[in-house]
Amino acid sequence: MKVATHQLRCTECGARIAGSAVNSIFRCPGCNGLYDVVYPWSSTPYGDTPDSGSNLPNVSALRWLWQERRTSTLAIDQSGVWRYRDLFPILEDLDNVVTLREGNTPLYDLPRASKALGLDSIQAKHQGMNPTGSFKDTGMTAALSVAKERGFEWVACASTGNTSAAMAAYAARAGLRSIVFIPEGKIAWGKLSQSMDYGALTVQLRTDFDGCVRVLTDLVTRFPIYLLNSVNPYRLEGQKTPAFELLEQLEWQVPEHIIVPGGNLANGSALAKGFSEMHHLGLIARVPKVSIIQAEGANPLYRTLCENNGEELIPVKANTRATAIRIGNPASWRKALRALRTTGGWCEQVSEQEIALAKAEIGFEGIGCEPASAVTLAGLKKLVAQGKIGREERVVLVLTGHTLKDSTYTIDYHRGELFTAEESAEISPADQLLHTALRKPPIVLEPDTDTVFRELESQMKLVHA
Ligand code: F0G
Repeated sequence: MKVATHQLRCTECGARIAGSAVNSIFRCPGCNGLYDVVYPWSSTPYGDTPDSGSNLPNVSALRWLWQERRTSTLAIDQSGVWRYRDLFPILEDLDNVVTLREGNTPLYDLPRASKALGLDSIQAKHQGMNPTGSFKDTGMTAALSVAKERGFEWVACASTGNTSAAMAAYAARAGLRSIVFIPEGKIAWGKLSQSMDYGALTVQLRTDFDGCVRVLTDLVTRFPIYLLNSVNPYRLEGQKTPAFELLEQLEWQVPEHIIVPGGNLANGSALAKGFSEMHHLGLIARVPKVSIIQAEGANPLYRTLCENNGEELIPVKANTRATAIRIGNPASWRKALRALRTTGGWCEQVSEQEIALAKAEIGFEGIGCEPASAVTLAGLKKLVAQGKIGREERVVLVLTGHTLKDSTYTIDYHRGELFTAEESAEISPADQLLHTALRKPPIVLEPDTDTVFRELESQMKLVHA
C-alpha cells in the first residue's frame, strides 16, 4: 500500500530536501544543521509549510481510527507507535514496517511522591516497558523501517547502551546486520548483554560516548552504513508518538508539565514536536511545558543556559553513574533548546545523591526505573522547591528505562556501596533518613528456623517502630 510522504527541513537554515536526498550524517550540507521531518499539514515551530491548513487531517476521525486499531490483530495496529502512523507518513510502503509491538506503555500514578511533594498528581509514563526495556524502541521501529525501505544491509549507532540494544533487536527482526559502538566499561551490563543477544557486532571503544560518535560519523561517510543515532530525524518521528499515546490515556486532558531526562538531548524535542503537532491539528487545546533534567556531571545544556543563555554549546567531560546520560557534547542541544522555549519548560541539573534517592523512591512505589530515568523525579523536586510547579498542576515524568537495565547500580545502592565517603557526607540529614528507610540490603543468615524467625521479628519491629 502506498502512503503519503514527507520532506526534511533543516532546523537551522530552513532548507528543505526530499527524505531520500539526505546525506549519510543527517546534516544540512549548507549549514550543518539537523533536520526535522515535515508533512504537508505541518505548521508549527517544527515546520512551516505555506499550504498548511488545506491538508489538515480530521482529528475526530483520527481519534476514532486510533481507538479502532487497538482491537485489530494487525501488527502495525497493535504497535503503540504505528497505530499513530497517520501523523508520521515516513514510509512509501507499510510492508517495510519492522515492529516488536512497541509502545502501549503504562501510565502509573505515583501517590507517595505526590504526597511527599505536596502535589495533586504525579504520574509516570513508563517507557522502560517497551520490548527492549527503553524508550528507544519507539524511535528505532520508525528509523529501522526506513533503513529497510531504502535497501541498507548494515545499520550502526554509537550508544550509552539503550539505543544499541534497541537497534540490535530491530535490525535482527528485519534481517539487517548491525554494528554497535559503545564506550568501554561505561555501560550497564544489562544493555551490553542485549546487543550481543540480538546478534549485533559489538565494538567497545576505549573512549566515551562522544568519542564513539566521532568514529561512527567518520565511518558512515565512507561506507554504506545507515546511521541510527538520534541525529536521524526518523527516530524522533517514532519518539514523538508517546506524546499521542499519553494524551489518549489522559482522555485528551493536557497535563501542565512533562519532565524528561536529557542526554544526547533528542527525546525532549521529539515529545515537544508531538505535542506541538497535536496542538496545531486541534487534538489538544495547549501544549504542556516540557522540562529537561541533566545529571550534574553531564550538564552541558544546563551550563549553556546558565552561562550564555543558549548561544553556544559548552561541552563538558561527562561523568555520572547514570551512564545512559553520560554525554558531554550532545548532538541535539539546539533542538532541546527549541523544545524548552516553545513549550515554556526548564532545564535543571541534579546530583548523584539526588538521583539515587529519587530512583529508590520510584522503586519503593513498585515501579522501578534505571538511574537516568530517576533524574525526572529529582528534577521535579527542585522545580517544586523553586516555586515553578504548583500544587494543582499535573506532572508526568517520562521514565525512559527499565530497572533491570542496571541492576548493579541498584544492588550497590542498597548495600550502601554506591557512594564514596565524601559523597555520603554531602547528603543532608533529612535525606540521610530517607536513604536509611529506603535501603533494603539482603540479609545473609544460616538456614535455621529459629535464627530466621528472630531476625524477621526484629525487622518487623523496625517496620512498625
Ligand atoms: N534515558 C535513558 C534511559 C537513555 O538511554 C537516554 C539516552 C536518555 C534518557 C536521554 O535521551 O539522549 O534523547 O536526551 N540514551 C542514548 C543511548 C544516548 O545511546 O542509549 P536523549
